Amino acid sequence: MYNEPMLKDDALKGKTIVVTGGGTGLGRAMGTYFLKLGANLVITSRKLEVLQKTANEMEAETRGKVLAVQCDVRDYAQVEEVLAQTLQKFGSVEGLLNNAAGNFISPTERLSANAFSSIIDIVLKGTVNCTLAFGKHWIAQKQPATVLNIVTTYAFTGSAYVVPSACAKGGVLALTRSLAVEWGKYGIRTNAIAPGPFPTKGAWDRLLPGDLAKKFDFKNRVPLKRVGENQELANLAAFLMSDFSGYINGEVISIDGGEWLQGAGQMNGLEAIPTEMWDMLEQMTRSAKGS
Ligand code: HXC
Ligand code: NAP
Repeated sequence: MYNEPMLKDDALKGKTIVVTGGGTGLGRAMGTYFLKLGANLVITSRKLEVLQKTANEMEAETRGKVLAVQCDVRDYAQVEEVLAQTLQKFGSVEGLLNNAAGNFISPTERLSANAFSSIIDIVLKGTVNCTLAFGKHWIAQKQPATVLNIVTTYAFTGSAYVVPSACAKGGVLALTRSLAVEWGKYGIRTNAIAPGPFPTKGAWDRLLPGDLAKKFDFKNRVPLKRVGENQELANLAAFLMSDFSGYINGEVISIDGGEWLQGAGQMNGLEAIPTEMWDMLEQMTRSAKGS
């Protein structure tokens, strides 16, 4: 059930949406669903060959229109070129999905300054570059629009061993909430999604290389005991891109099966206590009355 499409046909008709990092993984899955709902799509990333192959496959699957544009989000001039090519091909643009990211696990003290910067530059500065270029355009055109940022749940909590990513995603979350207020008056809505584990090659190769995938199975960290399905993320992204979410602004929605809260609650570890032990524990806690 959770991998079925949710929105009604044509829910995104008349919208052109740019998805950064749209040639692979979750960006590809969300973009494909936008197309199925009637949107025009622009996908961007550094690898033009990957983008073009994905664009052809997406068009064959959905019969929608896809423009592939090479763009390193760290370079503002390249981002401006995406905007120009989008307008040339489709005439207008209504949505920006900031999905491109870079990440890898490492003890922080092993990182060079450049390694730290490269993640901040892709995730935080890349999101800023795209949002700024598109936002300036929308404000000048007096055109309502939607920005949707993909963060992570450790944007709230921080996380060891992915510290550059945690810093950058935390920054993107601050950007989301700040611009929701500042640009609301222009009709620009800014929201974020914080996905829990959704297996993709890009993420798993860098976060769970080799045997780690078996030793550190994300399913065990999630109260619902499963990882996410791409379509359920796509359903949420499409809703937040669509006019059905027109009064949602500055929100971050976690879609993680309860994973981050499980790590947060002080007594959540009691999950490990077998059911038959609870009778004894109840007696002991009751007998503490009056002590
Ligand atoms: C230590 C490393 C390293 C590693 C790279 N570096 N990998 N340092 N450990 N494993 C260092 C390099 O030595 C270099 O520093 C600097 O980082 C930049 O590396 P480059 O290879 O030159 O960078 P670049 O070509 O720009 O590639 C960026 C990248 C790469 C992030 C390193 O992995 C990439 O292209 N990633 C894109 C896709 C991606 O990461 N997807 C996963 C997103 S998942 P020096 O000092 O030597 O110059 C995600 C999930 C979150 O975000 C939550 C999941 C639950
Ligand atoms: P992915 O397939 O590796 O996606 C990352 C994309 O970003 C790639 O298409 C990559 O393409 C692009 N990219 C990287 N650096 C770029 C740059 N400098 N300029 C432009 N594009 C760049 O991984 P994913 O799992 O689908 O991740 C998608 C998003 O979800 C990310 O924001 C990630 O942080 C987030 N997320 C994922 C998970 C998960 O469990 N998978 C969980 C939480 C959050 P090129 O290499 O061609 O540039």
